Amino acid sequence: MSHTVVERAGSLALDIDAERLLRRIRELGRIGADPVGGGITRTGFSAADREARAYLMDEARAAGLFPAVDAAGNIVVRRRPTDRPTADGPVVMMGSHLDTVVDGGRLDGAYGVLAALEVLQTVVESGARLRRDCVAVAFANEEGALFPQPFWGSMAVAGRIENLPREPRDHQGRPLREALRLAGGDLDALGSACWPKGSVSAYLELHVEQGPVLERGGSRIGVVDAITGRIVLTLEIRGRAGHSGTTPMEGRRDALCAAARVVLAAEHIAGRRDLCRVATVGRLDPYPNTPNTIAGAVRTTVDLRDTDVWRMADAEAALRAMLDDIAAATGTEIEVVAETRSDPVSTDARLREAIALSADELALPYEELPSGAGHDAQFVAGLAPIGMIFVPSIGGVSHVPQEDTAAEDLVAGARVLLRTVLRTTEREEQL
Ligand code: GLV
Ligand code: MN
Ligand code: MN
Repeated sequence: MSHTVVERAGSLALDIDAERLLRRIRELGRIGADPVGGGITRTGFSAADREARAYLMDEARAAGLFPAVDAAGNIVVRRRPTDRPTADGPVVMMGSHLDTVVDGGRLDGAYGVLAALEVLQTVVESGARLRRDCVAVAFANEEGALFPQPFWGSMAVAGRIENLPREPRDHQGRPLREALRLAGGDLDALGSACWPKGSVSAYLELHVEQGPVLERGGSRIGVVDAITGRIVLTLEIRGRAGHSGTTPMEGRRDALCAAARVVLAAEHIAGRRDLCRVATVGRLDPYPNTPNTIAGAVRTTVDLRDTDVWRMADAEAALRAMLDDIAAATGTEIEVVAETRSDPVSTDARLREAIALSADELALPYEELPSGAGHDAQFVAGLAPIGMIFVPSIGGVSHVPQEDTAAEDLVAGARVLLRTVLRTTEREEQL
């Protein structure tokens, strides 16, 4: 690896506007915030999400850039007005997501989107002539917290539409169709959101680590080498409702008792049996959810993760066998009504080197690490080489209101993104 980059580029003297980035992080972090606990609830396609999307588009327009919404609801910000994915030739794409989990943090996703906007704006304002154009993308519904289809937007961009449900509904059965329309998308035209092969030369995502590795190791920058695979099964458990005071224990078909066993089965599979790295039941929706009626039905999810596809397959097979046993033991029926799969992926070696070199030039200690969280990059990997940059998470926590990162690390991460983009756009053969 040569260090020609250092001498080469007038444009490497470019720097982001740190105050502008931090202001936008503060402002966006107020949208969907709980006034008491401070957590952010901006679930994909909710009213708060729409407000965040409008904020991003207003900021982009005020910066002289051109945001457009594709059929899947992704916001694509370009230097020129067009809504055709291929209009600018192969581009370097940067992005992440604006939606959050319920009561989450202000940085997961939002940081990567605002940093992508900042880098694009910096490049455009500088007048730098790059070999590749770059675009900033806010992928729709990455978390899947309201409409349970995580990675919705990046799956559409990557052309994985056949893996998406045809008429998605939220946990209350409300259709996505209308919510998507309100966000500027169009369920009947999803195919138009797909970027053809060759239209993206590289994808870069900057994100908070969401775990403790960088902080513990004293590194300021993480160079992600692989992203975990994930299977999410949505289960419908059907039992028989009844009076809690008059129905004898014997012969009950209590869907919540079955669900309790499912929770422990997931824990057992990852913990005791070590079939996959982690397994979590994070959601239980019992019906009718009232103290004096036996639960007649429960909807729940099981989230299994590992970086090895074979281990994930073994864990899923073991879980499904345990579900059969639980159903038999509790007199319930357990049906898998939806499943989402994201494969583990590796990042691109040349992009890893470009990130590491950029961190080095900025005298930022870095280390390579895998991501235990899922990211839109996993799906874009089907379209283009991907690179991911992490910055430390204070206390290693995320998906909680306490999620945070030091301001100087937020700025440092965006600087590394800018340098990596410049390397990637200027001289691809010399990454
Ligand atoms: C995405 O946020 C995930 O759950 O990993
Ligand atoms: Mn998340
Ligand atoms: Mn995220």
